[in-house]
Amino acid sequence: MSNSLNSELIVAAIEHPAKNILSLTVLDHIDSTNNYLMKLSVGRSSGQACIADWQTAGRGRNENLWYSPPDTNIYISLMWEFLADDNLTALSLMTALSLVKCMRKAGFIDAGIKWPNDIYLGDKKVCGVLIDIICKKKVNTIAVIGVGLNLKQQKFPKQVNQPATYLESVIDNIDRNETAAMVFESLLGMLDQSPEVWSRELLKDWNKYDIAYNQMVEVTRKGVKTIGVAVGINESLQLCLRIEKQLVCFDDIDSSMKLLSWNYENNSG
Ligand code: BTN
Repeated sequence: MSNSLNSELIVAAIEHPAKNILSLTVLDHIDSTNNYLMKLSVGRSSGQACIADWQTAGRGRNENLWYSPPDTNIYISLMWEFLADDNLTALSLMTALSLVKCMRKAGFIDAGIKWPNDIYLGDKKVCGVLIDIICKKKVNTIAVIGVGLNLKQQKFPKQVNQPATYLESVIDNIDRNETAAMVFESLLGMLDQSPEVWSRELLKDWNKYDIAYNQMVEVTRKGVKTIGVAVGINESLQLCLRIEKQLVCFDDIDSSMKLLSWNYENNSG
């Protein structure tokens, strides 16, 4: 099974017609694939993409590090240009929804989302999404969408602060180029639709994949912790917690969520 990254193999394995827009660079190593594209962003537009064999300073959400050893996982970034008045509130959640749907289609039937955009296999995290936004003088907005997907890595350092897993724990001998193609397939499929369509799709489908639905969770926002029962997302795409008879809702910026209980039977997915 091929393990070295190859841009031609990756692009050939993508079915979505928008693959023609991709300009994909394979990097042996880089600090962070998101940083690489952000530095390139001047004068560039939709479709610039890169994948690295390893990252020396991979970044996660909320200033965390994303542990990125060589030869094992997928570290991808894709740049996309939006109009300045496009509402990108849904982008982060929609990236996770698109990825989880592709993963289920690829046979990972246990794949689910932990708000706002972590992908889990069962009760362990397998994939994370980091979106960097660059606003350019009210003309357009550039988003760099970064995806880190654990493929073969079996051991995780102590600093990884939540249970983690990898795709080959479910299916043996997975090809890295085909997996990278699956990630691009899901991103291009999403970016082919408008932000209005994303909101409708999220409201329709989020709860089917939400691993926290009906579970006791703790949301931390700006250092403040709130505990309650997660009851899905509202019309504004905020995560809502039921606390006694009240609903308290959070948007995804600067927030993170921890599951305090795990009971798959309670889950709507
Ligand atoms: C998270 O769950 O905290 C988000 C992790 C995102 C990691 C990916 S790997 C590719 C891209 N480059 C980075 O530095 N981070 C993202």
